[in-house]
Amino acid sequence: MEKEKCTILVIDDEQSIRRLLEKELVIPYRDVLTAACGKDAKKILKNHWVDVIIMDLRLPDVEDLQLLIEVKESVAYVEVIMITGHGDVDSAVEAMKYGAYDFIQKPFNLDRLELVIEKAHQRVLMARENSILRHNRDLDKQKVQFIGKSESIRDIKFLINKVAPAKIPVLITGESGSGKDVVARMIHERSACSSRELIIKNCASLQKELARSELFGHAKGSFTGANESREGLMSYAHDSTLFLDEIGELSLGVQASLLRVLESHKYRRVGEKQERKVNVRLLFATNRKLAEEVEEGRFNEAFLHRINAFNIEIPPLKERKEDLPLLVDYFLIRLSPDNSSYKIVDRAMSCILRYSWPGNIRELRNVIERSIILAENNIITERCLPRELVSAAEESHAALSLDLVEKRHILKMLHFFEGNRQKTSEILGISRKTLYRKLALYNQ
Ligand SMILES: Nc1ncnc2c1ncn2[C@@H]1O[C@H](COP(=O)(O)OP(=O)(O)OP(=O)(O)O)[C@@H](O)[C@H]1O
Ligand SMILES: [Mg+2]
Repeated sequence: MEKEKCTILVIDDEQSIRRLLEKELVIPYRDVLTAACGKDAKKILKNHWVDVIIMDLRLPDVEDLQLLIEVKESVAYVEVIMITGHGDVDSAVEAMKYGAYDFIQKPFNLDRLELVIEKAHQRVLMARENSILRHNRDLDKQKVQFIGKSESIRDIKFLINKVAPAKIPVLITGESGSGKDVVARMIHERSACSSRELIIKNCASLQKELARSELFGHAKGSFTGANESREGLMSYAHDSTLFLDEIGELSLGVQASLLRVLESHKYRRVGEKQERKVNVRLLFATNRKLAEEVEEGRFNEAFLHRINAFNIEIPPLKERKEDLPLLVDYFLIRLSPDNSSYKIVDRAMSCILRYSWPGNIRELRNVIERSIILAENNIITERCLPRELVSAAEESHAALSLDLVEKRHILKMLHFFEGNRQKTSEILGISRKTLYRKLALYNQ
């Protein structure tokens, strides 16, 4: 089996110790980074994936154990080995209470240190693997399903099946929560590279200065903090699909580089001259109007034309209300904690049908999840729905009533003519008598 790479960060204010460890610990498959204080260490941790930290118990710029606590809280999958001086055993034990993996006393026994590092690294790998397994299990449980029988959903399913095997880019648009992720996953699942992992990146989560490097990777020394070369998502997604969500967040420069990938299947790491080849299927999503972004000069026009060649537009849920009963049934089954069945009363269902669902399917899912918790005897009534939803649904129902539209219009006109009933009745084309009758009805 290929050995997993291990990156170690040594944090010690004594230069001799940093040098010694750097020299002794470097072997193939292992990188050693060093920091002289807490501040430098945090900077490194922001930019690097570190597996094992070897940390002096006492550092000049942080209180004892403070850095350990912060690291354990903020860095996923890392083990910390403390370096302690003579007579510091109590503090070392204290450190272990805060999550340190082990401690090693100065002067070092390098063989023991090697052993401890190796064990700590094994533990990191195991934790990471467990989390991946757990994640995959969760995903399995949530195997994507695209529920809906409205005409628009049927069209989308048709498009997905047609476009999936082709390697062309697809732009998926639609309001937040409307199912863009679901469509992207379905395209990948039905494509020739479905056995490979779909790589997903939300561009809104990319730090502006690091976006290019995260996507394309960087060469060692290409910017401050780039102490080692790093691969980007493009290389991880080789022979697979890369789904870039919220594409409108990317800078024009990065958009131009993505256009190059689409046109020539080539990209360049930050700080490198030569181009690399990549075989990747790109999917994009956004809830912004990219044509407007182009007009505002925030989006590259050529790039938009290229990705817009195949666009799947998911309509908001309020425009395909005929899907609601199916979706409600689906979520009632899927979200049922003990596989028991739930029933929804007609009045609750009609609230659901009347509501406008600004948060789309995500909102519906949350509402159903909540109602299952509140249901008594597995029956979902209006009382299990959020109050805002019930009242908004009632309002929209009222708004639909002609009487109310008429009332609003009459009162608006009356207000416009400053209470002059003669002019109001003339402009409305009704007799004054009728107007009086209606106003009496409205208690005016
Ligand atoms: N047609 C559908 N059938 C079943 N579940 C769906 C459907 N569409 C969306 N969902 C579910 O609704 C939730 C929101 O969908 P998704 O994450 O795909 O939305 P999105 O458009 O990507 O939103 P955002 O713009 O916030 O990223 C998810 O839990 C998803 O599984
Ligand atoms: Mg999404």
